[in-house]
Amino acid sequence: MPSKLSRRQFLARSAAGTVAATVVSRSPVAFAAPPDSPNGRVQLGIVGVGARVQSGLLEAALAVPGVEVVGVCDAYKGRVQRAIARTNGRAKDYGDWKSLLADKSIDAVIVATPDHWHRLHVVEALRSGKHVYVEKPMTYAIEDGAEMIAAAKSSGRVLQVGSQGISSKTQETARDLIRSGKLGKVTMIRATYNRNTRSGAWLYPIPPDASEQTVDWAAFLGPAPQRPFSLERFFRWRCYWDYSGGIATDLFVHQMTTIHFMMDAKMPARVMALGENYRYRETHEVPDTVNAVLEYPEGFTVNLSSTFNNQASAESGFEVLGTEAALVFRGDQMVLKPESAVEGNDWVVSSWPEALEKAYYADPKVKAAERPDTWAPQVRKQSEAFGEVGRDSTFVHMSRFFDSVRQGKPSTEDGLTGHQAAAVAHMINLSLRQRRPLEWNFATGALV
Ligand SMILES: NC(=O)c1ccc[n+]([C@@H]2O[C@H](COP(=O)([O-])OP(=O)(O)OC[C@H]3O[C@@H](n4cnc5c(N)ncnc54)[C@H](O)[C@@H]3O)[C@@H](O)[C@H]2O)c1
Repeated sequence: MPSKLSRRQFLARSAAGTVAATVVSRSPVAFAAPPDSPNGRVQLGIVGVGARVQSGLLEAALAVPGVEVVGVCDAYKGRVQRAIARTNGRAKDYGDWKSLLADKSIDAVIVATPDHWHRLHVVEALRSGKHVYVEKPMTYAIEDGAEMIAAAKSSGRVLQVGSQGISSKTQETARDLIRSGKLGKVTMIRATYNRNTRSGAWLYPIPPDASEQTVDWAAFLGPAPQRPFSLERFFRWRCYWDYSGGIATDLFVHQMTTIHFMMDAKMPARVMALGENYRYRETHEVPDTVNAVLEYPEGFTVNLSSTFNNQASAESGFEVLGTEAALVFRGDQMVLKPESAVEGNDWVVSSWPEALEKAYYADPKVKAAERPDTWAPQVRKQSEAFGEVGRDSTFVHMSRFFDSVRQGKPSTEDGLTGHQAAAVAHMINLSLRQRRPLEWNFATGALV
């Protein structure tokens, strides 16, 4: 029996193993610590302790009471050492992901490897009986999604995807405002992600001690095509199609998760995208500028745009445009702007015969709607600002994962949710690479 589990916990788990096949992915899981012991300890392992883990996820996991980070593995030695130091020497280096997954005392894993590894790491972790928190984008290709969802379902373990924005108070408020009808009918959402730095374009510095001695190239490549050793590919993998989908999978996937969450939407029916590499031809295979239009069957359109060649306009963010109000997101600020538009036909009616113009404005309905005294000041309705409150969304998202593990709560961002957001990003890339619009078949859950 694993030393950290109580007898009850162990029995609960063993029983779960026998009924796993009947558990569906959104259902509460029936094992790990029983519901009456929500603070049971969870032994956590981390596959891939790169920048995301060491600048956020590790600290978040360590801050959740009862979570113990017991093991790590990575393909670059320097990161393993630093991660272990960050756990005050408590975590062990397992050397490779298979050894980490083979340790039955590990209850849950974070998968934060480059995108081309997510399917294998997640599926094998679930098959090994671990609960999984996988970073966004859940998939590297649309086809990965079905296998990952099925693995979560048959294992009965929790699968949570890491688009932490949906655990922020602001995005919850946005969803509530939209659901309440305060925005009227939402027909367009604009989302922009602009940058103009080398770091923003993923041209990260390479650690000076990186070499064939400290970097395990074969472990990094895994399911990707064979290539000669390259520190650029290893540390700047987002610039290459073999490991990443660039802007769409790295950035738009956050926005898609939020849009689906706020709008209760699943997938766009049609996607059209253009993408070009205008500036980074020496270093990037993926485009540095992407424009995409998505059409949802729920009756709204999304415009996504991103460039790595300007950020001076400060337009990065979201705008949810409804017939009664707009919700505007900039950074962690959100503003609800009620619609103040008024009818204005005076410039047209002033060309009519005078008697007809007078008669037109004598109509009380027109008077009420059109303000014929055009020089009177317009009364604008008050905007309402919402700042982010509470704890950092990465911490909240991580805590919710452990709540699901311990208390059998449904996953905050399950496999289907993660798959759909990533599938939109993949449709955008397929559309821009194939230079044609694409359609989603809702009956088959695949491209037309
Ligand atoms: N949610 C967010 O806001 C957010 C932010 C940044 C990154 N991410 C996601 O996190 C993931 C990792 O991104 P990153 O910026 O940390 O990249 P990174 O390159 O800094 O880290 C990835 C790590 O995985 C390791 N690795 C590669 N193959 C491995 C293998 N077979 N076994 C074990 N380790 C292996 C690499 O050595 C590297 O240290 C990506 O999917 C990315 O999209 C999410």
